[in-house]
Amino acid sequence: MMQVFYDKDSFIEFIKTQKKLDNKIGFAPTMGALHAGHISLYRAAKKENDIVVSSIFVNPTQFNNPDDLEKYPRTIDDDIAKLADSFLVDAVYVPRIEDIYPDGMARKHYDFGGIENEMEGAARPGHFDGVGTVIEELFLQVQPANAYFGEKDFQQLKIIEKLVEILDLKIKIHGVKIYREANGLAMSSRNMRLSETEKQTSSLIYKTLTKVNEWFKISSIPEITSRVKAIFDGENMELEYFLIADEATLKAIDSITEGKNFRAFIVVNVDNVRLIDNLHLDFI
Ligand code: PAF
Repeated sequence: MMQVFYDKDSFIEFIKTQKKLDNKIGFAPTMGALHAGHISLYRAAKKENDIVVSSIFVNPTQFNNPDDLEKYPRTIDDDIAKLADSFLVDAVYVPRIEDIYPDGMARKHYDFGGIENEMEGAARPGHFDGVGTVIEELFLQVQPANAYFGEKDFQQLKIIEKLVEILDLKIKIHGVKIYREANGLAMSSRNMRLSETEKQTSSLIYKTLTKVNEWFKISSIPEITSRVKAIFDGENMELEYFLIADEATLKAIDSITEGKNFRAFIVVNVDNVRLIDNLHLDFI
């Protein structure tokens, strides 16, 4: 039976018991508003661990826009029901603000080696310091052997890998493939704020990425970029950025170097809902 903990003390007792039993913990942190993408994280965790733990915590320090924080969907009862129905999760931690931020809500500052300044880091100042702060604290409390993050937030995944390296934690980080709607739209808690029509039109994001993957084999990066801009011109959505980056440094490139891995990244605003997506690009 799935257990739910609403405070740090009872949760820590649970973790202590698991440690005594020598149970290997798989952890997938979330901000709630759960969807099939989250379930795919638990499915991956279930295969490799003795118990699966998830957390639900809307982390204020990673929002640089107060409006975005306020509008972030909060569906805790539905979330707990979904988790119980999945039969994949053993324990859910729903901490209070003071369980994560006992000394006041401040972000720590990290040096992630530069990847924090690219893309989402440039668009959302302080965002990755906020993510680092909450994940460092959650890792400390949960003490997982494995932790699972979706590739939709590819930059976040790289940041967490770096965090574990900086803090020298013995936690293996797993990236889980993007889970998509039937029309290709990447699953996201923010999709709840889209109308049915907007969900349909937003399928253009993934369609564009798959075209980019084809063009990548034959066209130059500037050519690809201007085609992507042209696709979104005149659509009822605003292309915030599109770029192709080196998967290791996350730096945008304008020409291809053999032997490296590249990925296309895109952010589109649909009626003030910020949708992000990415796709690994194949050479052949
Ligand atoms: O990806 C998310 O949902 C959040 O950024 C995370 C990793 C749970 C940290 O708050």
